[in-house]
Amino acid sequence: MTWSLAQLIEKRQSEQYALHTRYINPSMARVQAIIGFDKIYTHGEGAYLWDAAGKRYLDLLSGYSVFNLGRGHPVIRQAIQDILALDRPNLVKMDCPLLAGLLAEELTKRMPPGLDAVFFANSGADAVDTALKFARAATKRPRVLYLDHAFHGLTLSTLAINGGAQFRKGFGPLMPGFDAVAMNDLAALEKELARKDVAAFIVEPIQGKGVYIPGDNYLPEAQRLCRKYGTLFICDEVQVGMGRAGRFLCCEHWGLEPDIVTLGKSLGGGYVPVSATITRRKIHDATFDRLERCQVHSTTFGENELGMAAGLATLQVFDEERVVERAAATGEKLLKRLAALQERHEMIADVRGKGLMIGIEFKPPRSLALRAAWATAEAAQKGLFAQFVVMALMREHCILTQVGGPDINIIKLLPPLMIGEEEVESIVAAFDAVMTEAAEVRGRVWAQSVQLIKHAVGA
Ligand SMILES: Cc1ncc(COP(=O)(O)O)c(C=O)c1O
Repeated sequence: MTWSLAQLIEKRQSEQYALHTRYINPSMARVQAIIGFDKIYTHGEGAYLWDAAGKRYLDLLSGYSVFNLGRGHPVIRQAIQDILALDRPNLVKMDCPLLAGLLAEELTKRMPPGLDAVFFANSGADAVDTALKFARAATKRPRVLYLDHAFHGLTLSTLAINGGAQFRKGFGPLMPGFDAVAMNDLAALEKELARKDVAAFIVEPIQGKGVYIPGDNYLPEAQRLCRKYGTLFICDEVQVGMGRAGRFLCCEHWGLEPDIVTLGKSLGGGYVPVSATITRRKIHDATFDRLERCQVHSTTFGENELGMAAGLATLQVFDEERVVERAAATGEKLLKRLAALQERHEMIADVRGKGLMIGIEFKPPRSLALRAAWATAEAAQKGLFAQFVVMALMREHCILTQVGGPDINIIKLLPPLMIGEEEVESIVAAFDAVMTEAAEVRGRVWAQSVQLIKHAVGA
């Protein structure tokens, strides 16, 4: 056979956006072009990407937190090469594969007390969907509560617990009895829980959309109320877990003991999709409650050898390289340095986060000329200034970031957890420079964004 993947890539590399425009998602391809993200990356390593011309980009998207260990970690790559070389029987299905057992054992060691049963799936939404099914089976209750602004995935069940109207629009009706409550409003939560028909209350300990952090006592009190009324408390750690927030699980910041934890993204070491729903044995067994129901919940690729090998290697790297401790220390430094810029840049409203999950929120400027520019942008599309900052960071500094969510003036930084002093310096210097330019109404931040406003108005 003469077919070669390497040759195919080399020959067709330049067509990637055209192919997406024709066969996949033209809107996505168009947005990348409009915001100047339509690069052709040919290599990735650690915290960086390189394009075909050899230009280097600092990646603070991390594949939405898939690359907590950076790209191409040698230990994960070796584990994947090993599993291919060993040629083990994968996905027999009617057996109990060794590696899944070993990864489950390793995961439970890292969980809060009592979480000793694991279900493996492929995506974060799978893991959350599993958590909701387990909660219903264990409590025999129908309802689920979630927080305003929440994001738990985009499948139909996880959309029903999505706190963003933009994501839900056009896909209803969603699940009846799945209701939002406002973060930090314990009275509203208790009112709902007191009806004793709520199977689960699900939270991201820090919300991914907007990087909203609950008040100090909110999550511990919410957990207490859940216990009081027989509702299961789920911490969705798909994005903030795996060291992202400077603890292995973000919920450790509050000493929480949730009934169910979900993990995904970086669990596969940046190579393989793997997710997990970790719960108490009793809750898990309520779903698989009779022998004939032993497969009543499953997914074909769950427990696959590649995913399990990548997961085992990932946890090994976390221990050996003290990834969590490093993320906490680097995150503290970066957060402090960024927060210090607030004194010099009037449009920075807030810098917040934990570990290396950082949100920067913007507010309208005071100067008259800038206020008019801000108002024009906001009228075209809410939250457009944050997009200008994302574009400028890319255009002038080759740094990939993202807006914190739809309609909000927040940008979000999710660097790989192994970044060091060099990257902290680059991020702070680049952001400082962009905000300095943004203070000039004739500067590039505003000027080059006229095009974007036109597109927003057109849309
Ligand atoms: C907190 C949280 N839960 C669930 C998901 C869904 O994960 P996936 O996209 O792998 O389905 C995400 C995705 O960003 C997430 O941030």
